[in-house]
Amino acid sequence: MRSHYCGDLRAEHIGEDITLSGWVHRRRDHGGVIFLDLRDREGITQVVFDPDREESFNLADSVRNEYVVEVRGTVRARPEGTINSEMGTGEIEVLGKELVILNKAETPPFQLDEHQQVGEDVRLRHRYIDLRRPEIQRKLRFRSKITHNIRNFLEDNGFLDIETPILTRATPEGARDYLVPSRTHEGSFFALPQSPQLFKQLLMVSGFDRYYQIAKCFRDEDLRADRQPEFTQIDIETSFMDEEGIMGLTEGMIRDLFNEVLGVDLGQFPRMPYAEAMQRFGSDKPDLRIPLELIDVADLLQDIEFKVFAGPAKDPKGRVAALKVPGGAELTRKIIDEYTKFVGIYGAKGLAWIKVNDLEKGAEGLQSPIVKFLGDDVAMKVMERLEAKNGDIVFFGADKESVVNEALGALRIKVGEDMNLIEREWAPLWVVDFPMFEETDNGSLTALHHPFTAPSCTPDELIAQPEGKLSRAYDMVLNGTELGGGSVRIHDQEMQKAVFKVLGISDEEAEEKFGFLLNALKFGAPPHGGLAFGLDRLVMLMTGSSSIREVIAFPKTQSAGCLLTDAPGEVSAAQLRELNIKLRKTP
Ligand code: AMO
Ligand code: AMP
Repeated sequence: MRSHYCGDLRAEHIGEDITLSGWVHRRRDHGGVIFLDLRDREGITQVVFDPDREESFNLADSVRNEYVVEVRGTVRARPEGTINSEMGTGEIEVLGKELVILNKAETPPFQLDEHQQVGEDVRLRHRYIDLRRPEIQRKLRFRSKITHNIRNFLEDNGFLDIETPILTRATPEGARDYLVPSRTHEGSFFALPQSPQLFKQLLMVSGFDRYYQIAKCFRDEDLRADRQPEFTQIDIETSFMDEEGIMGLTEGMIRDLFNEVLGVDLGQFPRMPYAEAMQRFGSDKPDLRIPLELIDVADLLQDIEFKVFAGPAKDPKGRVAALKVPGGAELTRKIIDEYTKFVGIYGAKGLAWIKVNDLEKGAEGLQSPIVKFLGDDVAMKVMERLEAKNGDIVFFGADKESVVNEALGALRIKVGEDMNLIEREWAPLWVVDFPMFEETDNGSLTALHHPFTAPSCTPDELIAQPEGKLSRAYDMVLNGTELGGGSVRIHDQEMQKAVFKVLGISDEEAEEKFGFLLNALKFGAPPHGGLAFGLDRLVMLMTGSSSIREVIAFPKTQSAGCLLTDAPGEVSAAQLRELNIKLRKTP
């Protein structure tokens, strides 16, 4: 049915008789001559039918967009003046001699070229058509190239691809579980894995030494552009390797990948402690392409009358920070109001600002709604700290530390993008020295990574003073996106028990939830550790996509549904009875 792919024909094929099969991308009637743009996965070729061959001409006249056809014809050079240098096949065309309609197509819900004119919901409902778009085809082929490259790297480095169960028990990665009722164990449920974490650790206990899996993970959490309920990890675990070894190996994997598929040299990744990342960028995944930083000014503002600043400046859990934006003095009131609304999303109660018009005039040269509250002296001291220059604008955040970090951290990126301050294309880094625990709203502690992450202290030290203790975890960040994260794990029972104790997980609960892991640690668990990359995010970044939905063949919507299959769906009463499940009527 085919001698060549449409997209593969070149000038070297001129004069050859060929057979193509594909979809009619477009049909044009040019005064007695019919052009069919024929498309397959490799590209588009122009086929010309002229009236000399009446039968095929009439058939070509009858086809419509997206019909599936087979064409026999001869490759010829395009006439002078019609060469299209934008197309791979732009120097040639095919003189069509025979045409077979393999299948007709109804008028599609949208033309591929006009996909932007319909909503994403229409495209997702007819995803098989949307997936015909050359742009998406390119992205999914690129994804395949990435996984191929990564598999090669890992296989070459002695990693074994081992599958782990999908029907399993809860893995604590911080999201809600997707549950599957069991028919054979009445009243019991499987959980879909949030990650293969526990199984990969068990594989280390079993002595496999180096494991990887391109693994589906399931998390019922609020969705964003870089989160899906069902996503893919490149999951890795090793034995007898410390954090240096693991970070070195996985950094090498990503560096090779960028080199081989994009021709980009990422260089050596810098490392930054978590505390520094939060202080300078308000984020544990700082986008280092943007040169703006947060600067603490609380010590200068503790004693002023202005409560909005003095309150958080004196509060040990508060923060007052400034974000200086060179050239920002020209921002209009309207834009500043928009930024004030923007930081409100993150809980900021306002966004104070100072425009630096003329420093020679001292505080007179500052334009701002708050200078009068700060006093001239303090205002100038702040300018000095920030090394402000004429033409700058300085934004201020004053609140609980977490609110200031989130609000100014997000503003930093927004302003950086709006004002085209992005300095380079790629900015990878490792964030290290994470705290072991973070405080929840009700004051209890939870694991910042997961509870199997090793602390960098002894069990006794951990129990004596858990706050502020660091873990042996590391995250790889690229352009402000968390690409992957991992840690050296706890490999002895005593430490694992200490962590559960700090987390308020009782012996019974630990036994019930992860008894199998605790048991395994008793039988000769080697020191081990690993990391998991978000494959979808990696492909998103490498293809310059704005959402991971663009690099997943069949993604879910923001409300975690599938428009194509209409999942999740209702099930029959008989199925529910079999599972012994009775639905509660929602009022
Ligand atoms: P973590 O929870 O950090 O670690 O996940 C690892 C990586 O997976 C990606 N990721 C997601 N991608 C898309 N949609 C989601 N909902 C989503 N959630 C996470 C991110 C993230 O960096 N077991 C540990 C890894 C380890 O310790 O080895 C884990 O799952 O890119
Ligand atoms: P107010 O006295 O509330 O009118 O605030 C004076 C200025 O401070 C305004 O520009 C507010 O946007 C700003 N502001 C108020 N609360 C905060 C806050 N928590 N952090 C930063 N700026 C604030």
